[in-house]
Amino acid sequence: MEREIRQCLGQVGSIGRELVYLDVVDSTNTYIKRMAAQGAPNGTVVIANAQTAGRGRLDRSFQSPEGKGIYLSVLLRPEVPMERWATVTALAGVAVCDAVEEICGVRPGLKWPNDPVLGSRKLCGILTELVTDGAGKPCIVLGIGINVLQTASDFSPEVREIATSIAQELGRPVSRAALIASLIHGLERMNRAFCTGETADYLEAYRRDCVHLGKQVQLISGSARETVEALSIDQDFGLVVRGADGAQWTVRSGEISVRGLYGYAE
Ligand code: BTN
Repeated sequence: MEREIRQCLGQVGSIGRELVYLDVVDSTNTYIKRMAAQGAPNGTVVIANAQTAGRGRLDRSFQSPEGKGIYLSVLLRPEVPMERWATVTALAGVAVCDAVEEICGVRPGLKWPNDPVLGSRKLCGILTELVTDGAGKPCIVLGIGINVLQTASDFSPEVREIATSIAQELGRPVSRAALIASLIHGLERMNRAFCTGETADYLEAYRRDCVHLGKQVQLISGSARETVEALSIDQDFGLVVRGADGAQWTVRSGEISVRGLYGYAE
């Protein structure tokens, strides 16, 4: 698998110049954090064939069966004001959609804030973490998990309800190595846009890909849920919503659910 990835990848820029491939790891995010502490360079990529303790947002786990998905983390050391760092996850969501479209011929949608979805189920999860390296310098760990070859039985019963894989949606397998290579090249372009601030194309793509604009969604806050209308995505990838009383505001963190509202699974 490692040879196949390197063959598909060819020449790289800064993302993937340092590339570690592991048969199995607890979590690629945790592993790359340890590398960051020891001074790993900007653009370091860690890929695993399986994770035993894959982590998701909000302290969830990310099911990472052997040989089925893409489990990849990138270390970024951006020379960008930290107030802009929060946008990188949304940019990465667009980069995932670009790679899936290039290799599989279908473009996923995006469920705010950054879940690529296909056929109304979650295809990919992105976990961005702010870490401090050995010299006390902050950096970003961008962790991406894409369900590629899983069948329904590879997911636990609860996850099966809300998750899908590319193979399930397409009815045929796709090359994980080709998809990884496309993703790494896409992350290179994304990181250039992030560092220069030239992200207009990404914002436009994000708005186009967003699956629930103009629709009702539920804002989740702890155990509370509030149904609002998702109106638009602002310049900083915040979700502008309108409540039942007509008040408008922008949601900057957290998550939404569209479960049961119009066919979406979550
Ligand atoms: C989510 O959906 O909540 C985010 C899931 C992120 C999963 C990826 S897989 C590669 C990287 N390593 C991890 O432990 N998590 C991320």
